[in-house]
Amino acid sequence: MLVSAKEMLDKAKAGHYAVGQFNINNLEWTKSVLLVAEELKSPVILGVSEGAGKYMTGFGTVAAMVRAMDAELGITVPVALHLDHGTYEGCYKCIKAGFTSIMFDGSHYPIEENVAKTKELVQVAHAMGMSIEAEVGSIGGEEDGVVGMGECADPQECKSIADLGVDMLAAGIGNIHGKYPANWAGLSFETLDAIQKLTGEMPLVLHGGTGIPEDMIKKAISLGVAKINVNTECQLSFADATRKYIEAGKDLEGKGFDPRKLLAPGAEAIKATVKEKMELFGSVGKAN
Ligand code: 13P
Repeated sequence: MLVSAKEMLDKAKAGHYAVGQFNINNLEWTKSVLLVAEELKSPVILGVSEGAGKYMTGFGTVAAMVRAMDAELGITVPVALHLDHGTYEGCYKCIKAGFTSIMFDGSHYPIEENVAKTKELVQVAHAMGMSIEAEVGSIGGEEDGVVGMGECADPQECKSIADLGVDMLAAGIGNIHGKYPANWAGLSFETLDAIQKLTGEMPLVLHGGTGIPEDMIKKAISLGVAKINVNTECQLSFADATRKYIEAGKDLEGKGFDPRKLLAPGAEAIKATVKEKMELFGSVGKAN
């Protein structure tokens, strides 16, 4: 069933585990993530960036596909369909399209403007029964053309955004989208600790989940992170498995070029990555 992310994240924060947000790009991605969530009885969040929404021909297509697939597969675990790093206009498009959750990324605005726009969107989202994520302090790296320098968020600014009634808060703590460089300084747990002390029960969101070492993930969860976003790692798993299939010449054997066969190893590889992350985040068996 498609639901808002609020209840699953409040439970995760109270239960000291995290729910994974896995970004989707197409039908295979969506199917792989939903099947693993059901198999492991884990709540899950399907993330859709503005670029991925455009690629799939629009948020309306995405919402219709996800809703229908959830029903056709008989998925029983809670699934939230969430806009990732939404613009102000993108948030309204997803509200209209039937998403169950949005992220408004106003981190590049001056804090007063981020507060004003977030405040308005909180009211609209909640009136529609949707959950909303806000961001303070930009996440480093590049995702779909959105580039951030990876600064650490100001805990007081986090409090002012959390006080607006958002359901989850993404705060920059040195995390980066995409692969981490060899000289990466690691997550700033001092910043995370200070943010959690000021924001209390608020589920915190860790973006850039790809490549963060296991011990850092566990420590982040112990300091209040209840949602972890993973995108690049599924893309790398998919590409690697597809490359191996083609390099082994399997597309040239019999009907190996059939897209259902050609894309199967990649889809299985996404499933393996999602399974590994759900086990690490501790969300397995937490669907009820
Ligand atoms: P990665 O691509 O680094 O896993 O980050 C995903 C993310 O944070 C989506 O918002």
